[in-house]
Amino acid sequence: MRIVKSVSSMKRLVRKTKKHRLSIGLVPTMGYLHKGHLSLVRIARKKCRFLVVSIFVNPTQFGPREDLAQYPRDTRRDLRLLRKEEVDAVFIPKEKDMYPQDYDTVVRAERLSTLLCGVSRPHHFQGVTTVVLKLFNIVQPDIAVFGMKDFQQAVIIRRMIVDLNLDIRIITGSIVREPGGLAMSSRNIYLTPSQRKNATVLHTALCHARQAYRRGVRDAKKVKRCLTRKITEKKGRIDYIEIVHKDTLLPQKRLQKNTLIALAVFFGKTRLIDNILL
Ligand code: PAF
Repeated sequence: MRIVKSVSSMKRLVRKTKKHRLSIGLVPTMGYLHKGHLSLVRIARKKCRFLVVSIFVNPTQFGPREDLAQYPRDTRRDLRLLRKEEVDAVFIPKEKDMYPQDYDTVVRAERLSTLLCGVSRPHHFQGVTTVVLKLFNIVQPDIAVFGMKDFQQAVIIRRMIVDLNLDIRIITGSIVREPGGLAMSSRNIYLTPSQRKNATVLHTALCHARQAYRRGVRDAKKVKRCLTRKITEKKGRIDYIEIVHKDTLLPQKRLQKNTLIALAVFFGKTRLIDNILL
């Protein structure tokens, strides 16, 4: 497994790989890998000949009062895990290499990035699309794999691919959950044991909403009220609970097939996201 630490060496390796006509897969990550990331790596491993995983804690997707400085990092452990998955190259660029001093260009999905998480994190998705496009340009993958926990991110990246005429196939991997149902996230380590226990309500409440839908409940307001009650009972502070169409991310008054129920909730200072697709 190659460990590549500069943009120029990554580009050199990509040129060599393309010369041999090997298909390239990319799994972009911010490191501190968990089973969710590894499931994406396994999907990608099956779909390409040359698999690259990037590890880069991207500063531009964090707001000024967010957890960039504390974001968990353990590159040694990440590399050990990736070696076991038979990854071909790990790209770990330096911040200065990705964003040199005079860096001045951004990519932004104008509408989609203002919805859901974009309301309380107004610059987040601009940071994501910018860094993901940069990674795409550097690694030139044929396929790239993203997780469904970040559903909005996947929708926005798909939009960007179409809008900017990129020839990259996006594959999404299902949410991987801890035994209690909490969606795997690098941020789960911030939770105290009691917050962690309470946070399992997110998945339970979403599953209840799906059951209600299966029983014939269609009123989005009613479902939202029920979710709010269940979550606040467990001391969750709601950032948003939205019932939207899975492609447009626009609110829906009535639940139907292809409705996405998405939420972001704080437990203590930790903001968790989760979703369910009907
Ligand atoms: O999902 C993530 O970990 C990040 O948003 C990504 C796609 C690696 C971009 O920094």
